[in-house]
Amino acid sequence: CGIVGYIGKQPAVPVLLEGLKKLEYRGYDSAGVAVLDETGISTCKTVGKLANLEEKLGQDYSKTCIGIGHTRWATHGRPSDINSHPHLDSEEKFAVVHNGIIENYLELKEWLIEQGHQFISETDTEVLPHLVSYYYEGDLVEAVRKVLKKVRGSFAMVVLSRQDPDKLVAARKDSPMVLGLGEGEYFVASDIPAILNYTRKTYILEDGEMVVLTKDGVTVTDFEGNPKSKEVYEVKWDAVAAEKGGYDHFMLKEIYEQPKALRDTMASRLGEQEVILQEFKLSAEEVKDLHKVFIVACGTAWHAGLVGKTLIERWARIPVEVDIASEFRYRSPLIDKHTMVVVISQSGETADTLAALREAKKLGARVVAVTNVVGSSVSREAHDVIYTWAGPEIAVASTKAYTTQLEGMVLLGLYLAQARGTMSPEKIGQVITALKEIPTQAQEVLEQAKDIEDFAQSFVDVEDTFFIGRSLDWNVAMEGALKLKEISYIHAEAYAAGELKHGTLALITEQTPVIAIATQMDVYDKTVSNVKEVKARDAKVIGITFQGNKDLAKSVDHVIYLPKTVVELAPILTVIPLQLLSYYVSVARGCDVDKPRNLAKSVTVE
Ligand code: G6P
Repeated sequence: CGIVGYIGKQPAVPVLLEGLKKLEYRGYDSAGVAVLDETGISTCKTVGKLANLEEKLGQDYSKTCIGIGHTRWATHGRPSDINSHPHLDSEEKFAVVHNGIIENYLELKEWLIEQGHQFISETDTEVLPHLVSYYYEGDLVEAVRKVLKKVRGSFAMVVLSRQDPDKLVAARKDSPMVLGLGEGEYFVASDIPAILNYTRKTYILEDGEMVVLTKDGVTVTDFEGNPKSKEVYEVKWDAVAAEKGGYDHFMLKEIYEQPKALRDTMASRLGEQEVILQEFKLSAEEVKDLHKVFIVACGTAWHAGLVGKTLIERWARIPVEVDIASEFRYRSPLIDKHTMVVVISQSGETADTLAALREAKKLGARVVAVTNVVGSSVSREAHDVIYTWAGPEIAVASTKAYTTQLEGMVLLGLYLAQARGTMSPEKIGQVITALKEIPTQAQEVLEQAKDIEDFAQSFVDVEDTFFIGRSLDWNVAMEGALKLKEISYIHAEAYAAGELKHGTLALITEQTPVIAIATQMDVYDKTVSNVKEVKARDAKVIGITFQGNKDLAKSVDHVIYLPKTVVELAPILTVIPLQLLSYYVSVARGCDVDKPRNLAKSVTVE
């Protein structure tokens, strides 16, 4: 989502709309603004693109110089007028725009309802204005501070108050937020592009900071009210670079967003030894009754499904078949009411996946969707939905959607195992503990980007390459090869390491670099034997394994090391260097990274 707040000397509405336009790439299923005028807070919000909001804003708002705006990428609650931001309390004294997820909103909502508050939307955000109203005793800043103590989760929020017409109060935790410093006017936004038309002087807010904006200045404090000193950050980027957060391409930005996306996707779904999928309606009895699971998807999402198969079979002991969506329907799949069909789709709109979902439903299966887009066709038509919270993905080559889909597979696998009693709570707890470390570990892998960039230069003139591995490593090899093909146009083939000798070994020469993934310890020795087979044909080999492994370096030319985790989670980390490698090779070859030739982000034809 994108948020904007303005206080100053110009009419607020055009400034808010201009800012929202620049943020539309962050989310675009609905939009809204709230401004203060002599009658109180007026809001205008609507589902659909920003243009719909502009059309709906009939009234003359020229006299109001304070307001907040939002463009939404739905998380809790489907896209609708009512679920759009800003949200208000029942007496319309406070309006709030928010990015992020309030994890404990359900318990807060129940508690507020007991106190007589009435809710109208399905969103987590709506608890915020109600909480401000509950705590308000004449001081907006004090009330917001109390709210911040009550809420858990991630947020960037801005509060507008009828009681305090001279200020906006904003706060951030785990969701980006910047302040724009003008002359007699101040801006707050989730991202720099929103304010770049008005000022280049900014404060970049950090987690745990809170701000009061008036037309005379801004004050930054921590959540306790202790002043924080900030340095002015002068933005040097142009508007186009700013949209990409200063990165050269959306793909790189999205690769770097993975720690956050992974954290958001697990938020509020993990107990100590238990996975909680609130949205999942299938009872434990029904899960026990499942005889078979199909996972159906296209492209990168299908690769996530391949990992899902091993996890579900290993943990929940149910046979799983993985199908490419465009094949599934035409092979008369054996489905009955004891079958669960899991469709995975970032966009939730891929025509083949949607058609497979409909076919599965018709045949009587229980359909679960793993998708990134709330309100998408897939999410509406499936019986159950597990959302990935990756945020909008813009680059055609999927990155953060894939790693969060893998996380979705981990959550589903553990959940099914827990319901079927095929894994002890202790074992589930061990995976959960490791999963909680994954975002930080993903960050550590990203810190090796410079090495990978240097290394990518040696791929510039390569024509063919192989990605090999066994078990889950093979599945990640497929995604690594796809990334390279998609954006650098180098022919890349993924092979089950043990299968090479049955034919393709003939293609390995000095000119064919091989990427060998070796994180799956049960097959490690065997993978190393296969690496030796390609080395013997003079291939240059890059190995990927866990830190502490001193063995692989003896057999390959270069090793990329990953932080240690449980083997089932390794794919989430392993793919990151592969994404970076493809990215830097694509850049070095002068390809159009974000929009590779002949490909589309969402394929809505069969
Ligand atoms: C297109 C994209 C791929 C994506 C596939 C499935 O081909 O280019 O990156 O993996 O569609 O998309 P979905 O939105 O269903 O995950």
